[in-house]
Amino acid sequence: MAEDLQIIKGDKKTQYQSLIPQIEGLVTGETDLVANMANVCAALKEQFNWFWVGFYLVKNEELVLAPFQGPVACTRIQKGRGVCGTAWAEAKTLIVPDVNQFPGHIACSSLSQSEIVLPILKDGVVFGVLDVDSEHLNHFDEEDEQGLTQILALLQF
Ligand code: SME
Repeated sequence: MAEDLQIIKGDKKTQYQSLIPQIEGLVTGETDLVANMANVCAALKEQFNWFWVGFYLVKNEELVLAPFQGPVACTRIQKGRGVCGTAWAEAKTLIVPDVNQFPGHIACSSLSQSEIVLPILKDGVVFGVLDVDSEHLNHFDEEDEQGLTQILALLQF
């Protein structure tokens, strides 16, 4: 597949519908996880222009920063800390409409206002998380959860 992305306008659902098969094309046949995570971040950033999108992976009982797009971010997050560490501890997706109202939120950037974090499960255990930040309040909803879940399902963790 050609390494360029077709960026479309439209509502969120339409954007995911356009993006998902393109990501599938990018990752299919490539077995390197880091390469695939990197391209997923780039594709999401290009299509949605989110403030920050990236992966943290569980290593030695910490979340450690992995491929991402956006400003530099905190490198390590403890279990139960912040939105990412809570999504890990609870093994569930968290949609935070206003990060300032989330107790213990880790502000990698003061510009971030809302966030969605999806846990990545492998053999029933959290392997890492996908974290997306927006500089707008209330930016993420179940449509993002569904679209991002479909995208994560394309990766072999
Ligand atoms: N805000 C996250 C930390 C990661 S950065 O946003 C990239 C949290 O509270 O876990």
